[in-house]
Amino acid sequence: MPSLRAAIACLWTAVSIAGAIPTAHVHNIRADMLAESTASIQPFRLDQVRLGDGLFQEKRDRIKSFLRGYDERRFLILFNQQAGRPNPAGIEVPGGWEEGGLLSGHWTGHFMTALSQAYAELGENIFKAKLDWMVAELAACQDAISARKEPGSGADNWTATHSGYLGALPEDTVLRLGPPRFAVYGSDPKANTWAPWYTQHKIIRGLLDAYYNTNNTQALEVVVKMADWAHLALTVGDKNHPNYKGNLTRDDLNYMWDLYIGGEFGGANEVFAEIHELTGDARHLVTAKAFDNRESLFGAAVADEDILVVKPENKPGRRRAVRLHANTHVPQFLGYMRIYEQSGEQDYLDAAKNFHGWIVPHREFASGGTGGTFPGADSNPELFQNRGNIANAIAHEGAETCTTYNMLKLSRNLFIHNQDAAYMDNYERGLFNMIPGSRADTSDNSDPQLTYFQPLSPGSVREFGNTGTCCGGTGLESHTKYQETVYFHSADSSTLWVNLYVPSTLTWKDKGFTIKQETGFPREDSVKFTVAGEGHLDIKLRVPAWARNGFNVTVNGESPSGLPAKPGTYFTLSREWKTGDVIQVDMPFSVRLERALDRPDTQAIMWGPILLQLLGKPEGNGSFWKLSLYQYLKLDGDYSRAAIVSESKTANDDPIFTTASRKLTARPYHISDDQAVSSYFHRVEPDVVFGSINTSVPNRKRNDGLPKYDVPVEGVSSPGSDGPTFLDLLWDQAPFASHAEFVKAVTSLADEFVGKGIYTTKERDVIVGKAEGAEADLAV
Ligand SMILES: *[C@@H]1O[C@H](CO)[C@@H](O)[C@H](O)[C@H]1NC(C)=O
Ligand SMILES: *[C@@H]1O[C@H](CO)[C@@H](O)[C@H](O)[C@H]1NC(C)=O
Ligand SMILES: *[C@@H]1O[C@H](CO)[C@@H](O)[C@H](O)[C@H]1NC(C)=O
Ligand SMILES: *[C@@H]1O[C@H](CO)[C@@H](O)[C@H](O)[C@H]1NC(C)=O
Ligand SMILES: *[C@@H]1O[C@H](CO)[C@@H](O)[C@H](O)[C@H]1NC(C)=O
Ligand SMILES: *[C@@H]1O[C@H](CO)[C@@H](O)[C@H](O)[C@H]1NC(C)=O
Ligand SMILES: [Zn+2]
Repeated sequence: MPSLRAAIACLWTAVSIAGAIPTAHVHNIRADMLAESTASIQPFRLDQVRLGDGLFQEKRDRIKSFLRGYDERRFLILFNQQAGRPNPAGIEVPGGWEEGGLLSGHWTGHFMTALSQAYAELGENIFKAKLDWMVAELAACQDAISARKEPGSGADNWTATHSGYLGALPEDTVLRLGPPRFAVYGSDPKANTWAPWYTQHKIIRGLLDAYYNTNNTQALEVVVKMADWAHLALTVGDKNHPNYKGNLTRDDLNYMWDLYIGGEFGGANEVFAEIHELTGDARHLVTAKAFDNRESLFGAAVADEDILVVKPENKPGRRRAVRLHANTHVPQFLGYMRIYEQSGEQDYLDAAKNFHGWIVPHREFASGGTGGTFPGADSNPELFQNRGNIANAIAHEGAETCTTYNMLKLSRNLFIHNQDAAYMDNYERGLFNMIPGSRADTSDNSDPQLTYFQPLSPGSVREFGNTGTCCGGTGLESHTKYQETVYFHSADSSTLWVNLYVPSTLTWKDKGFTIKQETGFPREDSVKFTVAGEGHLDIKLRVPAWARNGFNVTVNGESPSGLPAKPGTYFTLSREWKTGDVIQVDMPFSVRLERALDRPDTQAIMWGPILLQLLGKPEGNGSFWKLSLYQYLKLDGDYSRAAIVSESKTANDDPIFTTASRKLTARPYHISDDQAVSSYFHRVEPDVVFGSINTSVPNRKRNDGLPKYDVPVEGVSSPGSDGPTFLDLLWDQAPFASHAEFVKAVTSLADEFVGKGIYTTKERDVIVGKAEGAEADLAV
């Protein structure tokens, strides 16, 4: 988010809570689980799913250890200062962006969310004790802040304009973003803003999660007062300012949200829509909608006009820059989904769906991240790259981790409304790569040991730390909620959705089922489910889009009907279950090479859901490793046979591979240490070869007009004349059932290349002739 580095580098009225919150609406489940929600499927509560041993458990336990050891009193120091309450001696503020500067307070929220999630899983009291203490102290601060009427009291000199405010900074730091001052991003604590509504969102989110996950009802009381304050702040506004001109207008709000960083409000619209659900108070939905980004983005998203990056002459609105800041905008669409759920207004859902489509696949790296920078753009990698740009957006600083956290939320929430398996494929990509890759494999608790950017450029090293930053905050959350998307159920509870392969146990009391999932996934590719419970249930197993080597299911050793399952769908087992039933799923991983959309020779190595990174620093500054691999393929097209080969391993080890060309080590992205790694390499395949047979005919490219960018990259023609090579297109058709099938494919493709004037008939004849003679070379 807002890295400063990127720019330079209550008077709670006497309404009782019981009156404010109709009890019929109070339930300890997340807003995306509400029965009233328009969605046909729903997640389980965190406490209904337990992780078994494995990769996620290891990462989670490190963060839980950090949460256990951290002195939560540090979070209250700044709040107490605002409230005029004393602080214990010898305790320091957390530091980072949580040191009293203009973003302070946000980490308190993340920490509360993480504590609530850590508690939800196993009910370990230490997390609840810390959380309850923080909530009670924050409640006391809120009362004290609202009671401040006299200028000059407390550490800072200010009076509450509206009651209910809670923050680590004066209320004025939020109000000044709006009229009449329209304060801008900067570091002057008296005049600038950073991202005041982002900070409010994090605090409210943390309190709401304390309520949802641990039934802390005091947290809900605090939140409702904060929401009442927010309503006044965004309608009446800065009423005590000498130049006050009246209530905020739609125009004022649009202007505020288009401000770089200052206008970053996180998912503020999300929490106010949730509070509307909880209270039934129409004002809170008005507040949620106040955040609509109407001037430069909302309408375009509804109309599916991708304007994340524009040419200067096409800049919409009064204030926005040519490139939008990624993590500012992703969570806005989460909020739109929450508004849709409350109001039923289709535009909000359409906007979110279309926006997701602008990023996946057009701006997404193999790791599941987005962002980056490119020649001719400014050098801020927190911003969106132009559409279609992957290869030319591989910046050193790469993808910002918190943006992936938010993209996963968006994919997940869209899936809840529209069960398109592609959303879950995308969720899996981020969840098994960037998220576990964001936590260092160390027991060091001196800081959270989380990433900010995850670099993509060749031979770069991931850095860990991030006390007080956006990514250091969302990271605390990500690693304590790994179980949240593993299983969903239909609203009528007739169907269980198995979205992810993760060792875990689902306890579904209402339905009378317990499902145990045993697997080393993603370190192994088979999964065993054991059912306890009796009765009819449809179990939908996700067939990942990458599962092209088969997806074999048996129930009690027998094959069900309906196989083979199609990759990129769900496979349904509909039956009467009884205790002891066993479902076995085998989905052999394969090595796949993913080509960048804009430059097909820029490739990433995938193993099942996992991105494999090449170890070491390629020679030459900024240059990529260069690999030639087609000579190692057999008829099945399986790279793992000879081109990129796994060393022997046991089920619980990370698979480690060696490339035939260059003998490089390739290893899973989630391994998080201080080694230099490359997510992408350059494929060099100059000649058409079939095994060891060299046709000596150049492996030419088809002109697909690549790259095709919506906004140009300096020094690169767009549309260009790049495209996949003859061998790329040939091996895309693998596996080949027989040598005859292979020759048929070669012949047909060579004819196509002749038709396009890429090969002469003579070259075609050589290629086909050599293919015919390659039977022994290509035999599996
Ligand atoms: C506090 O604010 C009031 C009103 O703006 C001002 O009159 C007073 O001088 C301030 N006091 C201090 C100590 O800054
Ligand atoms: C939540 O807490 C409230 C207030 O203490 C209590 O009445 C209610 O039963 C609790 N709900 C659950 C599900 O434990
Ligand atoms: C200003 O907004 C408040 C809602 O917070 C509303 O009650 C009041 O009527 C509005 N005033 C005007 C002049 O529109
Ligand atoms: C599926 O699994 C069963 C049981 O392990 C096995 O007998 C069968 O050969 C497998 N089928 C395929 C197509 O792999
Ligand atoms: C490597 O290249 C980058 C970007 O072009 C440049 O900033 C850096 O100074 C170079 N480093 C060396 C050692 O040449
Ligand atoms: C294939 O033949 C070409 C042209 O004769 C030659 O330049 C190239 O090195 C050969 N490739 C291999 C892998 O032997
Ligand atoms: Zn971040």
